[in-house]
Amino acid sequence: MEIKNICCIGAGYVGGPSMAVFADKCPKIQIEVVDLNEERIRNWNNEDLSKLPIYEPGLAEIVKRCRGRNLNFSNLIKEKIAIADMVFISVNTPTKTKGIGAGKASDLKWVEECARQVAEFSVGHTIVVEKSTIPVRTAETIMSILKSSDNFHAKNSKSTFEVLSNPEFLAEGTAIKDLENPDRILIGGENDEAIKALSALYQNWVPKDKILRTNIWSSELAKLTSNAFLAQRISSINSISALCEATGADIKEVSRAIGSDSRIGSKFLDSGPGFGGSCFKKDILNLVYLAEYFGLPEIANFWEEVVHINKWHQQRISRLIVKKLLGTVTGKKICILGFAFKANTNDTRESASIKICQDLIEEGAVLFIQDPQVSSSQISLDLGKQENKELKNIKEKNLLMKFEGEWCYEKNIFSAVEGADSVVVLTEWEEYSSINWEEVSKKMRKPSWVFDSRSIVCQKKVIDANLNFWRIGDGTTTK
Ligand code: NAD
Ligand code: UGA
Repeated sequence: MEIKNICCIGAGYVGGPSMAVFADKCPKIQIEVVDLNEERIRNWNNEDLSKLPIYEPGLAEIVKRCRGRNLNFSNLIKEKIAIADMVFISVNTPTKTKGIGAGKASDLKWVEECARQVAEFSVGHTIVVEKSTIPVRTAETIMSILKSSDNFHAKNSKSTFEVLSNPEFLAEGTAIKDLENPDRILIGGENDEAIKALSALYQNWVPKDKILRTNIWSSELAKLTSNAFLAQRISSINSISALCEATGADIKEVSRAIGSDSRIGSKFLDSGPGFGGSCFKKDILNLVYLAEYFGLPEIANFWEEVVHINKWHQQRISRLIVKKLLGTVTGKKICILGFAFKANTNDTRESASIKICQDLIEEGAVLFIQDPQVSSSQISLDLGKQENKELKNIKEKNLLMKFEGEWCYEKNIFSAVEGADSVVVLTEWEEYSSINWEEVSKKMRKPSWVFDSRSIVCQKKVIDANLNFWRIGDGTTTK
C-alpha cells in the first residue's frame, strides 16, 4: 500500500514540526496539516518566518523549503481528511479537569472528535495513526468510533480503516534534531500492510533497525512509561540536590560520579528548578490513573511521588530565595531570567517559573521578568495577573514598596537588573551564561544575590563582582 497523501490533525508542537520533517524527507508525499485554530494556521502561513507559532531551532528553514511545495497548513479539515490515505492524530490530550478521573486521567475529547471527523469525512481506505500521547487501549475507542459511523455502514461504502500507534518522542528545543535523527521509531499495530506503509515512510531517512514494532497496547504504554522514567530521573536528582545543600556535597560532582556508571548513564541528570513542559506531569498522572483503575494502588503511589517531589522542589526554591533575602521579599525587586520551561522554546506550559514567580508575587516581591522568546501576554496568562507597565518608569527604588506583588516584562537584561536585590536564573538560555556580572553588580542594590537554578552561571565571576551566590545543589554556596 503506497501512501501519497497525509493529513495531520493538529498543528501544534508535535503536528507542526513532525510534519515539516516528513515533508522535507518525503518530497513525493503531499502533507496537509489541519487545525481548528484559525490564528495558529494563519501564523503557520505567515510570510515572516519569525512569526511561526512555534519557535524551534531549524524549523523555519524547513518550513521555508517545503511550505507550498508538499507541506500545507489550513483549516480545511473535511477536505483534507477526504483525500488522505493516512491521517495522523496529533491533538492535545490534557489532564481532565472535571468528572471521573479529574486531575489525573487524560481528557480524550479532542482525540474522540478527530476519530469522528475521520469517520465522517474519509473516503476509501484510511490508516489512522495515533501520534498524540494517550492512555493504553485508546486505539480501541478510536476503532469503535470509526466502525460505528454512518459512513462505514452506508450501502456500497468503501470506507475501511486501520489504527496504528506511533507515539512521538521529540523534546522541545531539539525537536528538529530529534525528528531527523531519532533514537527509535515505535509502531504498534496488528495489520502488516498498514505497519509496512508507515514504516516505509520513515525509512526515507531512518535506518530500518531503529524502527521498532510492537503490539498496539505496548506501544501506547511505552510512551507513557518513557516519559515517566525521564521525569523520575529529574525528581531523583533534584531530591539529591536538596541533600547536597544540607550536607556540603555538590550535585554536579554527584551527577558526574553516578553518571559515569554506564548502567545509569550521564544524560538527564542536571538538577534544575523542577521539570516543566506539557507532558511529564500529565503523562505520569495518566499512568497513576491507569494503575488505580486496574487496582494497583502501590504502583499508582510510586509514580505519583515523582510529581509530588517536583512540586515540593519548586516551592523549596522560592522559600529559599525569601530566606536568603533576609526573610522578606516584600517590595524588593527581583529580576527573573527565563520563563520558558527549558531553553530554545517559547513554550511555558507547566514551567517551574510559573510556580516560583507566583510564590514570590504572593510574598510581595516586585518582579521584572525577562525571556528571549516568551511574550509578556503569555506570562500574564500563566501568572493569572496583568503586567504593570508603570513599574518600568519608577526611578526611585524606595517607591517600589508601593508596587508589592506586581510584575512587568523587561526585554533588556541590564534594565531588568537596575536597582534589583536579586537575579534568579530559571531557564538555561545560553545568553545567561555569558552575562557581565561586573556590570550587573554596579546596577544592583546591596546586599545582592544571584540564584542560579540551572548551574549555568560562573560562580567565580559572580563572587568577584561582589555579589552573593547560590547554585542549585551546591552545599558550599548554600551554607
Ligand atoms: P498542542 O496543544 O500544541 O496542539 C494541538 C493542536 O490540536 C491545537 O492547535 C488544537 O487546536 C488542535 N486540535 C484539537 N482538536 C482538534 C480537532 N478536532 N481538529 C483539528 N484540530 C484540533 O499540543 P502538542 O504539544 O502538539 O501535543 C499534541 C500531543 O502530542 C499530546 O498528546 C502530547 O502529549 C503529545 N506530545 C507532545 C510533545 C511536545 O513536545 N509538546 C512531544 C511528544 C508528544
Ligand atoms: C519530554 C521528553 O524528553 C520527550 O522525549 C517527550 O517526547 C516529550 O517530553 C513529550 O512527550 O512531550 P520535553 O518536555 O519537551 O520532552 O523536554 P525535556 O528535555 O524532556 O525537559 C523536560 C523538563 O525537564 C524541562 O523542564 C527541563 O528543564 C527539565 N530537565 C531536563 C531537567 O531539569 N534536567 C535534565 O537533566 C533534563
